[in-house]
Amino acid sequence: MKPIAVVTGGSSGFGREFVKQLLQTEMQEIWVIARDPEKLHRLQKDFKNKIRIFSLDLSDLCSIETFSHTLAKESPDIRWLINNAGYAKFCSYCDLDIRQSANMISLNAIGTVSMGLCCIPYMRRGAHILNIASQSAFFPLPYLNLYSATKAFILHYSQALRTELKDKGVGVTAVCPGWMDTGLYARANIGVQKAPSRFIPMFSPDKVAKKALRDAQKNKAVSMYGVTVRFSYAVAKLLPQKIITKMWLSQQNLNDF
Ligand SMILES: NC(=O)c1ccc[n+]([C@@H]2O[C@H](COP(=O)([O-])OP(=O)(O)OC[C@H]3O[C@@H](n4cnc5c(N)ncnc54)[C@H](OP(=O)(O)O)[C@@H]3O)[C@@H](O)[C@H]2O)c1
Repeated sequence: MKPIAVVTGGSSGFGREFVKQLLQTEMQEIWVIARDPEKLHRLQKDFKNKIRIFSLDLSDLCSIETFSHTLAKESPDIRWLINNAGYAKFCSYCDLDIRQSANMISLNAIGTVSMGLCCIPYMRRGAHILNIASQSAFFPLPYLNLYSATKAFILHYSQALRTELKDKGVGVTAVCPGWMDTGLYARANIGVQKAPSRFIPMFSPDKVAKKALRDAQKNKAVSMYGVTVRFSYAVAKLLPQKIITKMWLSQQNLNDF
C-alpha cells in the first residue's frame, strides 16, 4: 500500500504550503481536494505526477460520500490528513442569510468532522490528522462571530478526538494560526462597514505550515506559531470574557460605529 497524504483546500494559500512540504516527505501521492478544477490542474502542473486532484465541494455531504467511495475502492494508507478547507466572512451576524451561515458551518465544522470520519479507517499507527482551526478559536469574536465559533468547535473536537484515537496510534493536532497572507481575505471581505479590518501581525503561511508539521511529529495537541498567538491563548485562559471582547472591539476599531 502506498503512503499518501490527503489535503483539503490544498489548491491555494495555507493548504498549498502543506502540499509543497509534504512533497518533500516519503508520501507517494498527495490527494488534494478543492472546488475549482482550474486551480487544481494548475497545482498538478506545478508539482507533476505526485498530485492527485479531486474537484469536490466539501460543504456538501454528497461530495464527501463520493470521496468515501474512492477510499473504499482503493484502500490507501493515509499517513496525513490535513483538514484545511475553510473560509471566513468579516461581518455582523445579520449580513449573512440562513443559507450563507449554514454553508460556513457545513464546510468549516461538518466538513472537517466528516473528512476525519471517512479517512480514519484508512489511517494506522503513526498517521496524523491536522485540523486547521485558528487563533480566533480562543474566544468568541463579535463581527467574526460564526467563523470564530466554527474554529472553536474544531479546537474542542480535535482535542477530544485526540484522546479517543490514542489507542489506535493516530495523532490529532489542532492548528491555530494567526492572520496569514492568503486568499482568505478576498472571500471574507464583503464590504460591510462594521467588520474587522486590522490584520496584524500577518504571518507567512509556509512558516506556519512548517511549524504545524513539526508539532504534529512531536504529537502536540495544539500548534501555534508566533508570540502574539501564544499570548492570545494565555489571555483567553486568564482574563474574563468581557475584557477580552472589549480588547478585540477596540483593537479592531469597532466601538465607534
Ligand atoms: N488566512 C488566515 O489568516 C487564516 C488564519 C487562521 C486560519 N485559517 C484557516 O486556514 C484554512 C485555509 O485558508 P486560507 O487562508 O489558505 O484560504 P484560501 O487561500 O482561500 O484557501 C482556501 C482553500 O480551501 C478551498 N475551499 C474553499 N471552499 C471549499 C469547499 N466548499 N470545498 C472544498 N474546498 C474548498 C479553496 O479552493 P476552492 O475555492 O477552489 O474550493 C482553497 O484551496 C481555512 O480553514 C482558514 O479558516 C486562515
